[in-house]
Formats: sequence, structure tokens, C-alpha cells
Amino acid sequence: MRRKAVLILNFGSQYVQLIARRVRELGIYSQIVPFYLSLEKIMENEPYALILSGGPASVYTQGAPLPDERIYTLGIPILGICYGLQAITHQLGGTVERAQKQEYGRARLEVLKEDPLFEGLPKNFDVWMSHADKVSKLPRDFEILAKSENSPYAVIKHKLKPIYGVQFHPEVSHTQYGKEILANFLFKVAKAEKNWKMENFLEEKVKEVREQVGNKKVICALSGGVDSTVAFVLTYRAVGNNLLGVFVDHGLLRKGEAQEVEKHFKQMGLPFKRVNASKLFLERLKGVEDPEEKRRIVGHTFVEVFEKEAKEFGAQVLLQGTLYPDVVESAGIEGAQVIKTHHNVGGLPERMALELLEPLRELFKDEVRELGKLLGVPKEILERHPFPGPGLAIRILGEVKEEDLEILREADAIFIEELKKAGLYNKVWQAFAVLLPVKSVGVMGDVRTYERVVGLRAVDSTDGMTADWSKLPYDFLDRVMRRIINEVKGINRVVYDISSKPPATIEWE
Ligand code: XMP
Repeated sequence: MRRKAVLILNFGSQYVQLIARRVRELGIYSQIVPFYLSLEKIMENEPYALILSGGPASVYTQGAPLPDERIYTLGIPILGICYGLQAITHQLGGTVERAQKQEYGRARLEVLKEDPLFEGLPKNFDVWMSHADKVSKLPRDFEILAKSENSPYAVIKHKLKPIYGVQFHPEVSHTQYGKEILANFLFKVAKAEKNWKMENFLEEKVKEVREQVGNKKVICALSGGVDSTVAFVLTYRAVGNNLLGVFVDHGLLRKGEAQEVEKHFKQMGLPFKRVNASKLFLERLKGVEDPEEKRRIVGHTFVEVFEKEAKEFGAQVLLQGTLYPDVVESAGIEGAQVIKTHHNVGGLPERMALELLEPLRELFKDEVRELGKLLGVPKEILERHPFPGPGLAIRILGEVKEEDLEILREADAIFIEELKKAGLYNKVWQAFAVLLPVKSVGVMGDVRTYERVVGLRAVDSTDGMTADWSKLPYDFLDRVMRRIINEVKGINRVVYDISSKPPATIEWE
């Protein structure tokens, strides 16, 4: 599908995906591409504009990443952000050097010259800086539009061409009017048109999937999570009953989860099959304590069960809910069109020689939720916390036993139920209980007890790569503790995990 885009040349900024999202939020399709994308490829895209991202390098070091210099002669509007501004300066004959005073965090911007970039904005506002280098001499034909205390060249512009550079980060929420600056650049300077609306995407995608699939049979492994469900419902619109969704119940799910997932899919009237394989999984996990070994066993057994279903159905195509961040991440700043190697369902397409269908490859998570809403996917699924493939197997530390699964399910259900009741479920990124392999002494009703410990974990995160522990209210934690100890047999102690990631991970195994 061809769509005019704003191309974001990636120099390795931690914010590169944020830039892409901001542009899409403004209703314009954006794509992240490697900084060295050839001029021919750039031209082929007929972009509305180029945005040069930030990055960790210094332009004056040898081998620093720089774009093809000819981009400045194309007449395409360019906005350089942070390192992007420095790259423009360096390539067009200005000077960039290490700043004596490095600038991180809030800075006050002072607009010195009126420009379409600042239309409708005040003369002074706060921006977010994060740089060690700075411009010390402008390239020829450039002028200063704004400064900050430590950056005399905080915003610069070519006098004749639509080439801009900003030292701060308009894409982060801490920059006041950041979105307005991007909007001014895209609509006023680059004259971009709104071409990114979920309704249009859905219509086009359904058509595209129908064309790609033809009469072939498509299979999908459903987890009950957002991505696979939305991919599944969209594909169903395109190919109807040539699609089958297989939900492998490995017996490591949370309380009532399998029934709930089944209920939702049945209600939506979709071709859904639940395969109960819990006996097989638990059998294979018997006596296994090592977390990675547990993961391996669950993964392999899953493939085995799923493969059998796919053969029976005669599937030729495998549907997966791969998202844009996965695609970008696996490609890294090497960019290129590498397909994610670690698919959700480990190595399935290669092993089964199936064609791959990934209708959500262009979307961010929040866009998938929006699409899901449009497709009538129930709220419970769209708002669900992430849940690991190996399920409770990695939340029972050590060997997985049937009776421990019961204990953990009960404790976890109380925690989640209370989070929902308190309106906190959607405020935390992920929350769950873990069962520890230790016993501790307690006293209940004058009787000494010697029972198991449950750990509660709730984290704030945006992508699971880094996370901080959620500052849940004490009275809330107190309520959860009381309920778990009173209602779950075998537990006499509850602890709350206050580790961040890094150095800890989100899961305990
Ligand atoms: P960690 O524990 O690595 O978790 O900080 C980050 C995110 O990934 C999930 N996770 C997994 N998901 N298979 C999965 O599908 C796994 O083996 C696995 N391990 C962790 C975890 O729940 C969190 O959202």
C-alpha cells in the first residue's frame, strides 16, 4: 500500500518512535528509515518532509552517522532534531563542538524571530534539552530563530530553503508546544495533508489481506491478548471462514482466563478453537526448576500442539500480530526491511513453511487499540495487561505443581480484582502475583503457621524494556494483603516488590 509519508531518518535516538507517533497523531503517515537511506529510495517515497532524529553520536568524530548530503538540495522540507540539527550544521559548513555546559532537562526558549514554525505560540516557553554538543557557528545562509540560556542556536533556519533545526526535543511531552511546533512544520512549512485515519487504514488493509491470501487457508495462534485478537478480527473480515484461530490452553493461564477468552470469541462469532493441552504441558514440566528450561519446554510443546492443528486445518498462511516497534527494533538503525526473527510463536513459519501474514506491521500499540475498538473487540481484551507466553510457569518459582497453580491463581485473581475495583488496573502497565518457593512462620488465631509467601508486582512502563514499581496506595496494598491471607489457603505472608527494571526484570524468572 503506497501512502505519502513523512520519513524519519533514524540516527539512533531513544525517542525515534515517539517522533513517528507524534506525526501520526497529527494525522500524517510517518515511517522510520535508516539515516543512510539512499537518495533514490527517499525520492521514491515522495515524502512530505524529512525529519532527522536525535542520536548518541558526535558529528565531528570519525565515522559519525550522516545522511546523503544531496537531501539538502531536493527542496523537500527538513527538520533536524538535536543530533539532526548538528548534522545539518556540520554538513552545510557550520561548526559543532562539545558544549562547556551540557544541557539536560528543562530550558527556557526565547523566540527571537517570527516564523511559521512558531505561529500561535508565545515568545517564551519551556523545552526539553538533552545534548552534550552544540552549534557554535552557523552554516552559510542560516539564521537564528530562537535561543536558550545555554544554546544560542536553539532553533535555526535556512534563509531561502525550508530547512530547520531545533536543539531541543519537540516530540517529548515535557516540551511545551512541542506538538504545535511539529504541526506548524508539517502543515505550514511542508504543506502536508492528513492521510492517516484508522477507518481508511482498516478498509485498505482488509482489501490488501484479501488480495494476499486469495483462497488460501490462514491459521492464527490466539493468546487472548490485544495484538493477536485485533489481527485475527481484521483478517476474518477479509477472508471469513478460511481463517482459524487456535487458542492453546496450556494449563498455565490465570483464573477463569481460558473460559473468558472463549466466551469473547464465541460472542464475536469467530472461527475459534480451544485446544485443552494442559495435561501434556504439566506432564512435561514435572520436576523442572530452571526458568529457561521451563520456557523452552512450554515453547516446544506449544509448537507441537499448534503444528498439529495447522496440518489438520490445511493452513498455508500464518497470521501474526507483529507490531511496528518489533519491526523497527529488529531492524535497528541498520534500518532495512529485515523481518522480525523472533516471532511471537517461536520459529513457526520457518518450520512449517508457512507464508507469513502480518497486517499490523505498520501500527503502534495504541493504534492497534484504536483499530480494535473500530472492529468491535471487547474492552476487556483491548485493555488487558501483557501476559507472558509461558504463563504462570514463570510465576511459580521452581517446579510447577498443580496445587501451586491453584494457590497462585487465587492470589493473583484477588490482586487483579482489587486493582479493577479501585480503578487502578488501567493505571499500571502490568500487575500480577508470584508464588515464592519459601515458607515463613506466621500466627493465625493463636496458632503458629508455616506457609508460603506471595509476591505482588505492579509496574509502570511504556514498552516493558524499562520499568518502575508502581506506587500503589498503602491502604490498597493492605486490603489486598488481608484478602489474600484470609482467603487463600496455604499463604501466610504477602510482600510487595519494589525493584525497578533494570536492575531487576519485570517477571521473577
Ligand atoms: P521481563 O521479565 O523480561 O519482562 O522484564 C518484560 C515483559 O516481557 C514479558 N515476558 C515474556 N513474554 N514470553 C513472553 O511472551 C516470555 O518468556 C516472557 N518473559 C517475560 C513480561 O511479562 C513483561 O511484560
